[in-house]
Amino acid sequence: MRRSLTPEQRADLLLHAMTLDEKITMVHGVDPMPIHGYVGYVPGNTRLGIPALRLADGRAGVGNGAKDVTMLPAPIAAASSWDTNLLRKFGEVLGNEEWGKGTNVALAPSIDVVRVPEWGRTFESYGEDPYFNGQMAIAEIQGIQSQGPIADANMYLTMNQEDNRFKENSIVDRRTLHEIYLPPFAAAIEEGHVGTVMCAYVKTDDSYSCENPYLLTTLLRKQLKFQGWVMSDWGATHSTVASANAGLDQEMPDTKYYGAALKAAIADGRVSVATLDEHVRHILVTMFRFGLFDKPQTGTWNSYVRTPQHAAFALRAAEQGTVLLKNTDGLLPLSDGESIAVIGVAGGAKPKASGGGSSGMIAPYVISPVDGIRKRLAGQAQLSYADGSDPAKAADIAKAAKVAIVFVNTDDSEGRDRPNLELPNHQDELVEAVAAANPNTIVVLNTGGPILMPWIDKVRGLIEAWYPGQEDGDAIAAILYGDVNPSGKLPLTFPRTADEIPTSTAAQWPGVNGNSTYSEKLDVGYRWYDAHHVRPLFPFGYGLSYTTFKLSNLRVTPAKITGMDPRTNVQVDLQVKNTGKREGAEVVQVYMEQPEKNGEPPRQLRAFTKVDLQAGQSQSVCLNLNSRSFSIYDPDLHAWNTPSGNHKILVGTSSRDLPLQRNIVVTDHGMQD
Ligand code: BGC
Repeated sequence: MRRSLTPEQRADLLLHAMTLDEKITMVHGVDPMPIHGYVGYVPGNTRLGIPALRLADGRAGVGNGAKDVTMLPAPIAAASSWDTNLLRKFGEVLGNEEWGKGTNVALAPSIDVVRVPEWGRTFESYGEDPYFNGQMAIAEIQGIQSQGPIADANMYLTMNQEDNRFKENSIVDRRTLHEIYLPPFAAAIEEGHVGTVMCAYVKTDDSYSCENPYLLTTLLRKQLKFQGWVMSDWGATHSTVASANAGLDQEMPDTKYYGAALKAAIADGRVSVATLDEHVRHILVTMFRFGLFDKPQTGTWNSYVRTPQHAAFALRAAEQGTVLLKNTDGLLPLSDGESIAVIGVAGGAKPKASGGGSSGMIAPYVISPVDGIRKRLAGQAQLSYADGSDPAKAADIAKAAKVAIVFVNTDDSEGRDRPNLELPNHQDELVEAVAAANPNTIVVLNTGGPILMPWIDKVRGLIEAWYPGQEDGDAIAAILYGDVNPSGKLPLTFPRTADEIPTSTAAQWPGVNGNSTYSEKLDVGYRWYDAHHVRPLFPFGYGLSYTTFKLSNLRVTPAKITGMDPRTNVQVDLQVKNTGKREGAEVVQVYMEQPEKNGEPPRQLRAFTKVDLQAGQSQSVCLNLNSRSFSIYDPDLHAWNTPSGNHKILVGTSSRDLPLQRNIVVTDHGMQD
């Protein structure tokens, strides 16, 4: 308990005092749990003063049936803000409520790169770009951990489908693993300083994630120097000896492999005491590092943790994450006096505020869109509502109004992928019927990821509001009426057709005979559309505003670098001007094009920043690129390599709108670990 010692010294002293049984107690959960609430529990040790571990779910708020908590928008919505300050705050609210509920390990965030657009857990993640996901992960983890709980980077590593998640084998080459799937975890560890990592259900290259020595030891411990502990996803442990020796520190949620079976394996030498000590040490060092031995935690599962400030943040996050995708002839924002018809189940009868599975939660309330809009109108215009179950009735109320707004949704959840990208429950027909009845039709999407929109040319407005959390209706009303100028951008591509997507073959997803082949390699998300010259419906990084912006005066310094320098710092400077009539925010995006011979996708996001500007205001913006921005992974040399040649830097406001470009010359090529 001597706080002057380092976490490592304290852990070593404690470890020395522990019996074998006491050590084994630390490396698994108990089921059933002796306390109410939570989803994982490791009992404390009264003899030695070790606090219990209480683990709880929730990626948009405290889950596992907790009451009196705030339902934030889904992470994909928060990420659509492209605002790392907002993600930091998102983590603070989540971490604060988890801690207040007595949780000391918060099972968030989910940071996997979205490879398959039908993935049922797309809404829990941030998007399809490794660098982008890494930046969001750093911010959210720091936010969560600033409030007390240890965060958990999940799900490690090639987790991107639900239908076969318990047995799927991802066949993926090492360059792709390093350049696409590993970077969010590398960022979470190296810059987010995350305390725990959750190994996933799936296999990577024939070996389950939680018993995969390459993933758990070579990559996590040796390459990324991870100092925290690895826990298995719930039921993702498949062995005792192989897991313990590969690097799994803790089995969750029970004792199937790490209880009596581990004791037996230690007794006959198949697992050494030194290996067990190593696992326990990872847990203890982290607990000391986070102050779990030193700071009191008085909240319990029944504590009331939501606050007006958290609700206000939930509203702001939903507004900032809403993406305006189409606005023909400036139909939006609406003016107060226009009569309006609100249509669709998600628009009123059953708002679609969150996704399902372990991210599911109990909202204190959900403001429905029709209620939010009614409140905003304050009786100034006529408002009608139909749930859309009868398209003819919906068309009738649409015809009688100046503007019709149709809310459509998908019901995404952990545990199942969407069978395809079509809207379920005949909602396409509903949109068609309404659009035929009213030329001023706006569609609002409450989806967890991309969908196909065969009716896109028939509607004048389109908004992606994702799963917006408890403040749903107030957020969408603020966007529709222009109280808030939309500034969200898509963190993943919306395809035009079902077969023009990166993972359109069964061998890729859901896989054949349990194997899914990552044959698209580096061409994940927008990388694939660019490489195959396929025009998506809405590209990565895209989103409109009620004002307009102009980017100019790009300067890149220095214009020449050597690949040998690991401390490379290239500065990208430009001017951004709000050229319209109202305040707004724009996301400046910097992409890099490698010399062609290197086999990289055409363009890759390397930096971004969000700028708020008053009407007419101009501001200079500076972004930085480092040596990793220029490098590619060489699987033969197990190292990052900065190839020589002309690298092109492209700057703009979406992955398909990059008006400013400069070359930068890399002289000698260089290698780093
Ligand atoms: C999910 C995890 C979750 C765990 C505990 C698993 O099925 O994959 O994300 O933390 O359950 O609920």
